[in-house]
Amino acid sequence: MRKKSARVGTQRTISRSSEETRSPSAVTYYAVRMGQPSAKTSDNAFLRELDETNRVHLARISEKASVPSPNDEELDVKKLLVLALKNELEATECAAAWIATTKEVRAKLSFARQAGDEAKHYRLIEDRLVELGFDARAHDPTSSPRSPLLSYLLSLETTVERVAAGQFTREALAVVRNDAFMRFCESRHDRATYAIYRDVIQPDEAHHHELGRRLLAELAIDEASQDLARKAAARTLELAEELQEIARLRFGIAHPPGC
Ligand SMILES: [Fe+2]
Ligand SMILES: [Fe+2]
Repeated sequence: MRKKSARVGTQRTISRSSEETRSPSAVTYYAVRMGQPSAKTSDNAFLRELDETNRVHLARISEKASVPSPNDEELDVKKLLVLALKNELEATECAAAWIATTKEVRAKLSFARQAGDEAKHYRLIEDRLVELGFDARAHDPTSSPRSPLLSYLLSLETTVERVAAGQFTREALAVVRNDAFMRFCESRHDRATYAIYRDVIQPDEAHHHELGRRLLAELAIDEASQDLARKAAARTLELAEELQEIARLRFGIAHPPGC
């Protein structure tokens, strides 16, 4: 059973030693948190193949996210949390949009669970921003255009593609990006934000990935469905890498958190 966090915020007591609270590298995190599949899916050759392909891309994304941004000195946790709001809102919208248009009940419930968690992440980040002195409740993330990744995800019509792209791959991506952001929080000595990610958001994102893994084991069962899943995962990572490059070149941001 997953461990639930009791409370987050600046009042949280961080009792773990500094060694325990240190975030492992993203690739290690991926291997520890997501690379040890449940018994139900561990013998699935297709998932092993998809894991391996995704791992190569995620390692590259993680490496780029670990390089300091050109304007790293000007960046602060607050600015990156504002970007995280949009990512969490888009993740909420995407999962919620798929509930009514997905046929399989288990997948519907999985998207519903994810949508609720992503909305919770939005609220946690919003509260943290208020603590940091930013009026997040007056901020509207929808005032900027929808991201190309959300547009792509919303265009997917089959459940196997939605699960492969939106849960299995995008949530693994979220863990890798959040990991880089957590290291940034450490560098800025922001332990409260770090704790929110360590205790609530990261375990949730890893769980969303696991939900996707279980569903894919049920849905990607023949050549046609596996091919759809493969292509959807690959396109998601391709878009993520493109967006990462745009954020780095245009805004000097290398490690924004979120999906
Ligand atoms: Fe999230
Ligand atoms: Fe998520």
